[in-house]
Amino acid sequence: MSKGTFYITTPIYYSSGDLHIGHTYCSVAVDVMARYKRMQGYDVMFLTGTDEHGLSVEKSAISAGVSPKEFVDNLLYKDGGIMSLWKLMNISYDRFIRTTDDYHVTSIQKIFRALYDKGDIYKGTYKGLYCVPCESFWTQSQLSDGNCPDCGRGVEYAEEEAYFFRQSKYADQITELIGGYLEPASRVNEMMNNFLKPGLEDICVTRTSFKWGIPVDFDPEHVIYVWIDALSNYITALGYQNEKYDDFDKYWPCDVHFVGKEIVRLHSILWQAMLLALDLPLPKKVFGHGWLLLDGDKMSKSKGNVQDPIILAERYGVDALRYFLLREYTFGTDGNFTNELLINRINADLANDLGNLVSRTVAMADKYFDGTLPAEQEAKAADDELISMAAGLGDVFEANMDKYAYQDALIAVFKVTSRANKYIDETTPWVLAKDDSNNARLAAVLYNLLETIRICAIYLTPFMPHSCSIILTQIGASGDLTKYDSIQGFGGLPSNLTVSKGDVIFPRLDLQKELAELAGLAGK
Ligand code: MSP
Repeated sequence: MSKGTFYITTPIYYSSGDLHIGHTYCSVAVDVMARYKRMQGYDVMFLTGTDEHGLSVEKSAISAGVSPKEFVDNLLYKDGGIMSLWKLMNISYDRFIRTTDDYHVTSIQKIFRALYDKGDIYKGTYKGLYCVPCESFWTQSQLSDGNCPDCGRGVEYAEEEAYFFRQSKYADQITELIGGYLEPASRVNEMMNNFLKPGLEDICVTRTSFKWGIPVDFDPEHVIYVWIDALSNYITALGYQNEKYDDFDKYWPCDVHFVGKEIVRLHSILWQAMLLALDLPLPKKVFGHGWLLLDGDKMSKSKGNVQDPIILAERYGVDALRYFLLREYTFGTDGNFTNELLINRINADLANDLGNLVSRTVAMADKYFDGTLPAEQEAKAADDELISMAAGLGDVFEANMDKYAYQDALIAVFKVTSRANKYIDETTPWVLAKDDSNNARLAAVLYNLLETIRICAIYLTPFMPHSCSIILTQIGASGDLTKYDSIQGFGGLPSNLTVSKGDVIFPRLDLQKELAELAGLAGK
């Protein structure tokens, strides 16, 4: 039976080609959450897509000598484009929206008209500063050293007839509500201090200086501001103001939007003002995650570390990369990315700890009992700590996952795998195996290890779906024994299952050799 619905989104990505490891971070985080919720029995809607309108696309298409639509189609579907990247990274989205999809275009025109009819959009003259790459308008006081506060690049003066959205009307309501939906708390302070306390201004929501966007249907010289177009994807993709889908009532309001820190303002102020103006409920949560940085700075090609997720995933495995991203960094804050951190993390946690635990345990069950443990088992007090840690793991894991603390959830699992490795050293199965009279004790030790592995592998499945399914197969668990609900305390694994030895799941990497080879690939 379904536990209810769970609607989660990534931002819609600019389909501008080179997605780096930082972009992959958000999609992996959403994917893990979607898989976790599905595993628990929720009816999940995981939405992602691409943001394809705007001046910068128009300019790039002109310089490439193709139409903007051809330009974005190519970026999306080319080898290494978003579609192939998400497939490679095992991103299990339920729906994919493109802002050039017809149904979305129609919905946006209806949304714009509804806001206009309500008096929340009005015509005026825009005089101000515009950042072309970010498609954002800024006031003088918001600039940082005279440049765009988001990307640091220069802004242009612009003056033209335009429509405005009465964002200011909703300032008090947003100020009152923002602490309830925006996380982490540090982002609430940022929004209060930088935008809400200084006072919200109305924002310009149309342009006439370029064409590549959704025209206002009752005044087609005007193209709708890309952020009005883009933010609305979260509801048009459910069928709001269109016939393409019909699950708006089922999934809205959204359980959580995951967004990077530079677009928190748009997702926690503009979006809420739009929804309030449309008389729609607000998303339950907006989570602003940190950025992956290179040498403390924005990702860029020339810095000596490979940051192309395709190269890294093909070399080290998709699961290892997914695990690394959510284990190495605290989700709400920035972190520095290096190839060395990646390789060290794979070696320490996946090869030495988890991988070693699985291969040692399976090999011993195979060698001492031909793969199938005897029913007679002798428990000892020495087992208690491992058993209680494994049995108690679910509570800690869920408490952390439910607040998007991926890192702490993973640390909790790996405390148990480390304890299990220590348990092998304490119980010395190879000594027990020397004398048949110890068989019942040896069987208990191996059973405790196999059941611990099963529990850990189930919790790790959303992070490393492919590897965990291999682990579960190696320990002989299949069907219901791989399900989340099958973990009820400790002891769900029947003793008469047969393990099957397999290949090493996470091979140990030679750090120096890898770093040297990656240095050769960096920037390519
Ligand atoms: N198109 C807008 C989003 C519209 S949503 C209605 C956009 N696209 S983007 O492609 O530039 O960024 C997509 C996401 O990737 C954003 O959440 C952004 O924060 C994230 N990241 C981009 N670089 C990143 C890192 N270096 N690290 C982590 N996330 C990063 O913004």
